[in-house]
Amino acid sequence: MTKIITSIKEMRQLTNELQLQGNTIGFVPTMGALHDGHLKMMAQSTDENDVTVISIFVNPLQFGPNEDLASYPRDIDADATKAQSVNVDYIFHPSEKEMYPQNPTIEVKAGRLATVLEGAERPGHFDGVVTIVNKLFNVVRPNKAYFGKKDAQQLAIIEKMVDDFNHPIKIIAVDIVREEDGLAKSSRNIYLTEQERLEAPHLFQSLRLAQSMYEQGERESEKLIEKTREYIEQHTSGNIETVAIYSYPQLIKQEQINGKIFISLAVKFSKARLIDNIIIGN
Ligand code: PAF
Repeated sequence: MTKIITSIKEMRQLTNELQLQGNTIGFVPTMGALHDGHLKMMAQSTDENDVTVISIFVNPLQFGPNEDLASYPRDIDADATKAQSVNVDYIFHPSEKEMYPQNPTIEVKAGRLATVLEGAERPGHFDGVVTIVNKLFNVVRPNKAYFGKKDAQQLAIIEKMVDDFNHPIKIIAVDIVREEDGLAKSSRNIYLTEQERLEAPHLFQSLRLAQSMYEQGERESEKLIEKTREYIEQHTSGNIETVAIYSYPQLIKQEQINGKIFISLAVKFSKARLIDNIIIGN
């Protein structure tokens, strides 16, 4: 039975004891509104570790002033049922007061990797992410932590943070889970209108189009970006915020594609802002 823990002290004591008994701990940090993408990470963690802990905490530090903090979907009972279905052992579900008893005096800065793409569109977002993930790592102290490739920039930043801060934690990157029609699973898909939901799979199609141009030998980023944008404009009513090509995981803008890169996009529909990406090359 999945157990919900709300106190930092209890969580720390528990994982401490479990580790002293020789157990390995897998950790999946989330903000709840669990979908198949999260469940895949949890299932991988239960396969690879003795004990799996997930966190459900909507972290105010990573939301901008005009973002969806207040309306972000929260349903702990439904989430607990889903976590139970993939044999998660513990859900760490602290209150805001428990995590931030006062406004944090010291915040972690994500630095250069956060100045591009999502970081440029959402100032302060990744500082909020690295601050909370540091805290969660210190509370749970897992052996492995699982992050989705859908948030590829977040994954690159967390990997760098673990390296820079010497966290003794192995980061496991988990593939994007998509609906049958190609739409990447996301807690924010519920904000799409019926019509937008029909259009949204075209985001992945636009990335596939760019990928096939790459496979046919095109290496000029601008050409791939232009075709991707054109496709999205023709097939959706969304407003394109970003279509860009960066090296991965260094996150340096690429004019000519060389080595491993990712094509990243962000498109704003009436209420939902969707992101997607594809990593290509090696
Ligand atoms: O990816 C998320 O859901 C969040 O950014 C995370 C890693 C749980 C930190 O709040």
